[in-house]
Amino acid sequence: MSHVPSPDKPTITIPLLQQWVCDGRRLVMTTAYDAVTARLADPVVDMLLVGDSVGNVCLGFDNTLPVSMAMMNHHLEAVARIKPRALLVADMPYLSYHLSVDDTLCNAGGFLQRGAAAVKLEGGAKRVETIRALVECEIPVMGHLGLTPQSVHAMGGFKVQGRGAEDAVEILEDAHRLQEAGCFALVLEGIPSELAARITQTLNIPTIGIGAGPLCSGQVLVLHDVLGLTQGHRPKFVRTYVDGFDLLQQALAHWTEDVRRGAFPAPAEAYALPADARDAVSAWVPRSSTTT
Ligand code: KIV
Repeated sequence: MSHVPSPDKPTITIPLLQQWVCDGRRLVMTTAYDAVTARLADPVVDMLLVGDSVGNVCLGFDNTLPVSMAMMNHHLEAVARIKPRALLVADMPYLSYHLSVDDTLCNAGGFLQRGAAAVKLEGGAKRVETIRALVECEIPVMGHLGLTPQSVHAMGGFKVQGRGAEDAVEILEDAHRLQEAGCFALVLEGIPSELAARITQTLNIPTIGIGAGPLCSGQVLVLHDVLGLTQGHRPKFVRTYVDGFDLLQQALAHWTEDVRRGAFPAPAEAYALPADARDAVSAWVPRSSTTT
């Protein structure tokens, strides 16, 4: 992949994002899982996240736990092939940063070699040493606190975190631990707005909220949620801007109807045979099958 930025498509870097936050500009991140979703989102947003949410959004799993490094690499490579201008962040899946520092560095370094500019991982105090090791190896890390989906069983479900005084202070302290460990930004998911605001106010690095209220440095939503492509329960923090599922299904139904009534394809959508070939094809008769 070319790393030479083209003048009409300047790449968005971590220092640029941090500058934007200082200038009072809110950051926007969404997910991309393949070249199509990346092409849709890249011209519009600041950061593309190849999220492990690919597991429930695209692969039909109930949660993100079955998502493997092989799956993430496959989706990251597809997104990286479009050479995004947005900062490309790859999500470390469950068990890819829990076993050993060496294993974590190999997995995260592999993401950078595939075109990611940063990795994201979930958790607080427990992750500090891992984050330090990654940053030491020039791997930028985005932290993720609050409702961390890979802890779904430990949390007893997808539940808002930090509602009690002790939990809220623990999340606040974790945010500062992650900043000290070297994270360049933090995702804050499923926590009360006041807590997210306090974290944002007291940190020097940007916070990207999802279900964390308006007072974060930026916001992230899953692309399929914004476009109304996800079915079933949507959490209350999701705002859907188009009923993409219905709209696209109507388009497919329209095409199906056209096929069935003989209206597709039209002559302009088909290839014509030159006159001499047409004559040869018309003159040809099937060889009669020999029956005894
Ligand atoms: O995997 C994902 O999509 C995420 C975002 C929702 C933050 O972690």
